[in-house]
Amino acid sequence: MHPNFSISANLEGFLLSFRRKVGLSCLFCALLTGAPKASAALQIGWEPPSGAGGSTELQVLGSVQMADLAAKKSRTLREADPFGKISEEKVTFQGVGLSSLIEEMTKPLSASDRSSTDLVVLSDKNKNESLLPKAFLVKYPDILLALKKGGHDMGGDGPELILPISTNTKIRSENMLLETLALRNVKAITLTSYEKRYGAFFLKRRTDPAAMRGEKLTLQNCVVCHINPKEYKNKFVAPEMLLKLGRGEHPTVKDYSDHAVTFRSRFDDKSLRSLVSYLGAFKNQ
Ligand code: HEC
Repeated sequence: MHPNFSISANLEGFLLSFRRKVGLSCLFCALLTGAPKASAALQIGWEPPSGAGGSTELQVLGSVQMADLAAKKSRTLREADPFGKISEEKVTFQGVGLSSLIEEMTKPLSASDRSSTDLVVLSDKNKNESLLPKAFLVKYPDILLALKKGGHDMGGDGPELILPISTNTKIRSENMLLETLALRNVKAITLTSYEKRYGAFFLKRRTDPAAMRGEKLTLQNCVVCHINPKEYKNKFVAPEMLLKLGRGEHPTVKDYSDHAVTFRSRFDDKSLRSLVSYLGAFKNQ
């Protein structure tokens, strides 16, 4: 256990699972508007921004079969297996670049529709979600939808999302809980916006740079679990909680394979202070 992680002493056995709860709303919009065909493996959709006029419901851009994915230009990524035992050993994953797939599937969208999206949500059939800033697609084209591991089919009913965590030094300085982003059996990829899904977390007063930085980090890392803005506003404002957060203490967050991911290992001091500034500003609005 990390020495800075004193909170774990009080919370022994209280381990958070990465298999977080997510809202049902988008399951419903997917079912109502874009029920995938029984045979479809992976559905790609787009949610128009709210307030744009016209329908804001999910539009299905296409469904891709596993065989079609396998036939696309493949790329490889050597990475520690996020779904394996704790091990530094790397394996070769082979599959399709997330960014190139999305680029291909979003061709029908206008440039302005495309630029209205800043969030990519990947989900499995149990509604576990992985939230990626859309900017990651261009920045990290080696983010992979993997079909094979070590030369063998992984045999899932959808590809696996693998990030270049150990091979790309830039992504490690993103101040994100990267290890919790890997996802198995991806069934749907939805292009949307933080504003549309998590607008209730936006600060009204948008002038304090630290709080704004904290808002961005909160959207990227925290809302996936703390889905209820009212609760986030009212429950986590005790001064001692904020002090702990500022020190990087948080109940243990676990990745897909039950490895602990400490805030200390992922957020630098400036980011931790920003998260606290954001919470302070959010509770007062
Ligand atoms: C994997 C899910 C998960 C993620 C990701 C997550 N949290 Fe939490 N967080 C929890 C759970 C569960 C608790 C336990 C308390 C509760 O929900 O009632 C908690 C508790 C907290 C607390 C109160 C801690 C205390 O001392 O009691 C704060 C503050 C907090 N989270 C902030 C954050 C921030 C900021 C982020 C993003 C950087 C974040 N959380 C990301 C699940 C998560």
